[in-house]
Amino acid sequence: MRRPERSMCIDCQDTPLGLSTKRIYKVALVGLGNKGYLYEKDDKMVASFKYSTHCQAIDAHPRFSLTAGCDIDPQKVEQARFDYHFTFSGCDYRKLFNDVDIDLAVVATSTGTHPDIIRYALDAGIRHILCEKPVSTDLASTRDVFDIVDRCRGDLFVNYWRFFDRSHQWVKRVIAEKTLGDVLKVCCYYGKGVKNTASHLIHLFLEYFGEIGWIKKLTGASSHASGEDPDIDFVFGTRSGIVGSVLHIPNDDYRIFEIDILCSRGRIRLADGGRGIELFGRESNSTLTNEYQLSRLGKSLSPTAGEAMFDLYSFIANVLDSGMRFVDYRALKTAELLDHLIRERESTSKLDTSKWN
Ligand SMILES: NC(=O)c1ccc[n+]([C@@H]2O[C@H](COP(=O)([O-])OP(=O)(O)OC[C@H]3O[C@@H](n4cnc5c(N)ncnc54)[C@H](O)[C@@H]3O)[C@@H](O)[C@H]2O)c1
Repeated sequence: MRRPERSMCIDCQDTPLGLSTKRIYKVALVGLGNKGYLYEKDDKMVASFKYSTHCQAIDAHPRFSLTAGCDIDPQKVEQARFDYHFTFSGCDYRKLFNDVDIDLAVVATSTGTHPDIIRYALDAGIRHILCEKPVSTDLASTRDVFDIVDRCRGDLFVNYWRFFDRSHQWVKRVIAEKTLGDVLKVCCYYGKGVKNTASHLIHLFLEYFGEIGWIKKLTGASSHASGEDPDIDFVFGTRSGIVGSVLHIPNDDYRIFEIDILCSRGRIRLADGGRGIELFGRESNSTLTNEYQLSRLGKSLSPTAGEAMFDLYSFIANVLDSGMRFVDYRALKTAELLDHLIRERESTSKLDTSKWN
């Protein structure tokens, strides 16, 4: 079934991120763990992100009020209530959704619990949902979530936050406008599981390069070092003909992911989970024609990555103001590609080298 891709072509340049003085939307945040609340107490996160948690981004945003907080762990509820003065709080999201007048439910619990919580929120009449990524642990339950969101005519925003980061929108424009020529190849490394981390990469590829036409696992390249979440090496091709490789690496020495976008007149390098962005181009006065002589073009380390969650909430406010629906079908496409990858039999046959001896 072809789904409407309406309002998916958001570019932060075109999207009015400017804030108006309209209605303030009431938010219930379910899940007061790392992403919901605790990262803001982590020095490394504080150094890297202006808004590392939903609590921080909602609290700072003039168009939202953090009305209710919920976690099954009563200590987290108490601690967050002390910091954020929720009007309502508790350990049972059902009670909150039924009893409290809420505009937006934010689901930041462990991934396997997302579908039940989203379903309950929609049943309770809450039409606007922001879910942490990935939407669920498997494709079947992810599809169920999108089906029920469509049936209820609800909104589903998914926190693939790079989508809302202005630096990534800028990279997207560099690619689309061919500032460094045509994209030739894409080379990536990632750590910590295909669902957890490569999902960010795939969502970003869909944003940068458009539809992915094929995806293939490499032989002998799957392990389960990340528990339920396999570490898989894979290759992919976009409908527009760009080919990329994505290799898993242990996360101890490398952070999250790195992407190298090799273009005909230069190169875009995204290090540190996409937060460090560098552009290289051929020297304009170079007499060498074939040599890969590159120089930095000046843009380095994404200055806005730490503010992407604030921009995400601005985007949500704009959608709610407009009365239009938004569903992040790209998150469903990401789940479909991941599922294909995980279930695919290893696709490259091994060379029989016995006859060489
Ligand atoms: N967008 C990102 O970059 C990013 C970064 C980190 C985590 N995440 C995602 O955020 C989600 C949470 O991850 P985390 O690292 O914060 O995990 P976490 O374990 O630190 O926090 C999850 C919280 O949910 C609570 N919880 C679980 N079931 C619940 C229920 N039924 N009702 C209420 N509370 C419940 C737990 O008690 C816990 O406090 C995951 O889906 C993860 O993939 C996204």
